[in-house]
Amino acid sequence: MRIGLAGIRQFRVRRGNRAESAGSRQAAAVALAAVTVAMALAGCDAGVAGAGNSASANAGPGATSALSANGAAAAASVTTASAVQVVAHGGGQSRAQVYESVRQMTALGKQLFFDASLSGSGKLACASCHSPDHGFAPANALSVQPGGSDMHRTGLRAAPTLKYLQSVPAFAEHYHESDDEGDESVDAGPTGGLTWDGRVDRGGDQARIPLLSSFEMGSTPARITAAVKAAPYAGAFRAAFGEHIFDNDDATFKAVLQALETFEQAPEVFYPYTSKYDAYLAGNAQLTPAELHGLQLFNDEQKGNCASCHISQRTKDGAPPQFSDFGLIAIGVPRNRALPANRDPHFYDLGACGPERTDLKARDEFCGIFRTPTLRNVALKKSFFHNGIYHSLDQVLRFYAERDTNPEKFYPVSKGKVRKFDDLPQRYWANLNTEAPFDRKPGDKPALDEAEIKDVVAFLNTLTDGYQVSGAKPGAVAGMAVPRVAAN
Ligand code: HEC
Ligand code: HEC
Repeated sequence: MRIGLAGIRQFRVRRGNRAESAGSRQAAAVALAAVTVAMALAGCDAGVAGAGNSASANAGPGATSALSANGAAAAASVTTASAVQVVAHGGGQSRAQVYESVRQMTALGKQLFFDASLSGSGKLACASCHSPDHGFAPANALSVQPGGSDMHRTGLRAAPTLKYLQSVPAFAEHYHESDDEGDESVDAGPTGGLTWDGRVDRGGDQARIPLLSSFEMGSTPARITAAVKAAPYAGAFRAAFGEHIFDNDDATFKAVLQALETFEQAPEVFYPYTSKYDAYLAGNAQLTPAELHGLQLFNDEQKGNCASCHISQRTKDGAPPQFSDFGLIAIGVPRNRALPANRDPHFYDLGACGPERTDLKARDEFCGIFRTPTLRNVALKKSFFHNGIYHSLDQVLRFYAERDTNPEKFYPVSKGKVRKFDDLPQRYWANLNTEAPFDRKPGDKPALDEAEIKDVVAFLNTLTDGYQVSGAKPGAVAGMAVPRVAAN
């Protein structure tokens, strides 16, 4: 039976009130800083049955029960998947051997990530769209990135950051916190999964998408195998995956996906927790009055109410916040008329109900919803929202503050009438969120005024990794030296 449209909104209300416990699921995952290795060893020591079985290892809350015999592993999230695979790979490995395979796989994944020769054009690497200097979001301000064989094709969406994805749970239509198992009242609604619409659960399955997509890297398993075989790291690849790995294109492709997935879980690169806000939470830095005021407005349920979706507080267990509850939600982002796909007035990117995602097609209650992104490192981004329509945080904040009080500022006006929510057909409008700051009408006071918007933006700037605590030794923060990849 299809859940009611209103139901989704109610789930959100509960989600907001339950921010604390929403975080606690992430807590454990986060607490395991060296997550990949720790998990691999946890699996190893506990001798987890069927650890290589992707059904049980398949991320998120599901994995929790599979591994719950082990305290550390109770934190299981997407992160565990490849670590568990690594274990499965060489069953009976010693602790040192597990560390060594993860290390090898991470190093290979990193080289693959920067290797443009994997692409059909020879010009596009993962890093072309996910720049390490920009929180693994694009370096340029284009709404959507060029790709394809001629480097002139584009997709529908802005490239997201790849940081802090380690605790995104597997996609669930009805997400229940693991500590509230069986309690219907805490159904948090559609949650989790990777990409803006949550259509895959694992890094490896995700990497398959850009590698094969005709408007992204446009490659094939055969081409990828040839590229890896000819790469400077071919020897290391053989050492990690076996002397005969290149004999089979599909096996090579799978190994590439696994290495990329493992690399994306390197804690020092992808979830270092080195922002000023982390230092502040740890008592090692003070926020300026503007930043502090911004934080207050961010949390205030009557003002920004941002934290109801972008969780800002430590979990009960003391783990740092992810700045997302990973819920999929509709906030009515305006149509981006600059996107080639939107030249067709009948075309809509409806998020979870399609067209990129196909399993929830015709499920009206999933139309227009996109996964809440983390706001960590958001100040390094140059395009915002799933369609990349805005290019500054000020614009994003004004949208939140004035979407309903001054809709004419965001949506097209024809013959004096505002066409609100112009990127979502009216039959799906019941899916739209109506909590603060989206609880107003024309004539009301905006949730945030210009001075308040400035302060919230100041606060968002404290979420960028790499803050140097004064007095701390430089270099204490794990940085990353990266080869440059030309986009063209
Ligand atoms: C042409 C630009 C482009 C290239 C090249 C590219 N990506 Fe992406 N990436 C995107 C876009 C756009 C999305 C969002 C896709 C969507 O929502 O449908 C994305 C999403 C992701 C996500 C999910 C992030 C999240 O928030 O859930 C991961 C992980 C990822 N990419 C990894 C990779 C890897 C690994 C490679 C190389 C194999 C790669 N990407 C190559 C543009 C790119
Ligand atoms: C009801 C849940 C909810 C609330 C409340 C909320 N957000 Fe969001 N936020 C989202 C979702 C969902 C998206 C992605 C929407 C899309 O692209 O369609 C998003 C996207 C963003 C982005 C763009 C990030 C990126 O990577 O493109 C920023 C910045 C942001 N929110 C900041 C805020 C701030 C600041 C507030 C408070 C004023 C706030 N949000 C309140 C759910 C929420």
